[in-house]
Amino acid sequence: MCLHFNPRSMMLSVIEERRSAVSFVPGHELSEEVLTTLASMATRAPSAFNFQNWRFIVVTTPEAKVRLKTVADGQEKVTDAAAIFIVCGTLAPHLTLADRLRPSVEAGIMDPVTAERWVAQALAGYADDPVLQRDEAIRSASMAAMTLMLAAEALGLASCPMGGFNAEALAREFALGSADIPVLLVAVGKGAPANPAQKPRYPVTDLLEIR
Ligand SMILES: Cc1cc2nc3c(=O)[nH]c(=O)nc-3n(C[C@H](O)[C@H](O)[C@H](O)COP(=O)(O)O)c2cc1C
Repeated sequence: MCLHFNPRSMMLSVIEERRSAVSFVPGHELSEEVLTTLASMATRAPSAFNFQNWRFIVVTTPEAKVRLKTVADGQEKVTDAAAIFIVCGTLAPHLTLADRLRPSVEAGIMDPVTAERWVAQALAGYADDPVLQRDEAIRSASMAAMTLMLAAEALGLASCPMGGFNAEALAREFALGSADIPVLLVAVGKGAPANPAQKPRYPVTDLLEIR
C-alpha cells in the first residue's frame, strides 16, 4: 500500500519533515494573522470530553523575549525565533465544560442529554482530583503543542518545543493564573539554513508490539 499517493497523506510528509529547529533566522517576524492561525490550529487538537483546557500566550516583542529568556535557561531560540508560544494546560476543566460543549449541541453534533451526562461525569471524575486535573492539563497542552508544530511545518515555518524553563519563574513573569500550568514553549519562525534534519528514530520494530 502506498500511503503517499493519497492527498490527505501529505500529512505524513509534514510529520516526516518536521524537525526541532536548532536555530532561527533573527529578525524574521510573523503577522498577527499567522500567529492566530497557528493558535487556532492548535485548538483543533483533541482533549478529554472536548475540555479544551489550554491557553496560549505568544511572545514576540524584544522586551517580552528578554523576560522569557531569563526564565528559559537563556536559550538563544527565544531571542531569534519570530514567536514563542507559552502553551498552558488549565486546571478545573469540569467547571467550563458545559460552555465548551454548547456549540456542539447547537450545531446538532451532540444531543443535549449526552452533553449533560458528560458534564456530570467530568464533575464526578475531576472536581476532587487535583492530580488528574494536572495530568489532563499536561495531556491536552501537549496535544495542542504538537498540533501547533505540525501546522507551522505545513505553513513552511520551523519550530522547536522547549521544556527548558523554570515554570514558577515563568508563571510569575507572565502573570499566569493559578489555574494555568505552563507545559511547553514552542518557538516558531524561519529556520536557519543549516538546521539538521529530523533525528533518526529508534527502530519501530523494537518498540511496537502487535497482538
Ligand atoms: C518535552 C520536550 C522538551 C524539549 N526541550 C527542549 C529545550 O528546552 N530546548 C531545545 O532546544 N530543544 C528541546 N526539545 C527538542 C528535542 O531535543 C528534540 O525534539 C529531539 O531532540 C528530537 O529532535 P527532532 O524533533 O528534530 O527529531 C524538547 C522536546 C520535547 C518533546
